[in-house]
Amino acid sequence: MSRRVVLAYSGGLDTSVAVRWLMEHHDAEVIAVAVDVGQSAEAAGEEWEAIRRRALAAGAVEAEVIDARREMAEEFCVPAIKANARYEGKYPLVSALSRPVIVRHLVAAARRHGAQAVAHGCTGKGNDQVRFEVGTRSLAPDLEVLAPARVWGMSRQDCVAYAAKWDIPITVTVEKLYSIDENLWGKAIECGVIEDPWADPPDDAYTLTRVTADGPVEAVIGFEAGVPVSVDGRSLPVEELIAEIGRRAGSTGYGRLDMVENRRVGIKSREIYECPGALALLQAHADLEDLTLERDLGHEKARLEPRWAELVYDGMWFSPLKQALDAFVESSQRHVTGEVRMRFSPPGVGVVAGRRSPLALYDHDLATYDKADSFRHHDAEGFVRLWGLGVSTWAARQGAGRGGGQP
Ligand code: ARG
Repeated sequence: MSRRVVLAYSGGLDTSVAVRWLMEHHDAEVIAVAVDVGQSAEAAGEEWEAIRRRALAAGAVEAEVIDARREMAEEFCVPAIKANARYEGKYPLVSALSRPVIVRHLVAAARRHGAQAVAHGCTGKGNDQVRFEVGTRSLAPDLEVLAPARVWGMSRQDCVAYAAKWDIPITVTVEKLYSIDENLWGKAIECGVIEDPWADPPDDAYTLTRVTADGPVEAVIGFEAGVPVSVDGRSLPVEELIAEIGRRAGSTGYGRLDMVENRRVGIKSREIYECPGALALLQAHADLEDLTLERDLGHEKARLEPRWAELVYDGMWFSPLKQALDAFVESSQRHVTGEVRMRFSPPGVGVVAGRRSPLALYDHDLATYDKADSFRHHDAEGFVRLWGLGVSTWAARQGAGRGGGQP
């Protein structure tokens, strides 16, 4: 008896072949779901409608395109900004943030269409399979997850031949240089020469961060309770704001990363990224926190942030620990309101040039050394004596003070 499978469809070679393969090997009726998370379909010279038709041509019984750009920006990128999320201190979780968005839509489609399984086109070496499968199981433990590309044992050439045999209309036939994953938060680029960690990142891999500006570019980013809401005083929906900051920062070459990272599956891999909008917003947000977060809160939050990023990287977006950390982060953001002025200068340098907030904990009269000074200087003497009392007693009885010499 045939069963219904919802496939995460990208329009590329692998997922197009997967449609037919699932029909052949699982006797499946395939429902192809393409989720728009801001990957530029136009960049590939394609419209979403063309992608939808290809899924049908490949044999899908139904094909849907879902515009999830606002959802991705508001419900996934914004929490990442609030959590200052950078995996291993660097990578702003581009692909890791889009997978749970896609999973949510796969599961919803599976319910709508009465499917028993969902499928994805990931191979067995990456993190994305982990995110699709663990994500699906956290939302719908009853659904089966199929990963055709992990088991079919076909090379790229085999897939091209398979597509030809079944008349699947594929646009790419030449060998691809890189494996690219893109969404509105940025772009991840792997494979080819990038696999040699000693080799320079190839210039032609970058598209969002080519230097076109001939001088510094500025942007004033407004935040309300941790959420970026405006650029130069103009309110923008988050997905447009990310794009606008990305264009400005990217035009100066800002936003590139080159790193060796630890995948969840135990492999170290060399990857390059370009995420001008994401990195600029993360930098601006963290700076505004320096101005507005009380010291202990800021320090504790900084301890939890790497864990948040790690959980998301590891496919635990919907997990209970991640939810509990979200609650902490959310409560920390109440007063993260204000403006950050960023300056980007070719080639690729971005700095916070100024910050201000009606809720700033920075108090000029406390900080200043000029005559506006309101700090109670005489309080310092007793404070410092008590702060050092323990070590001073220790020094007299057990340490340097005892014999008079150096330790
Ligand atoms: N290493 C990154 C991550 O695990 C990016 C993976 C992107 N996939 C790709 N096909 N380039 O999140």
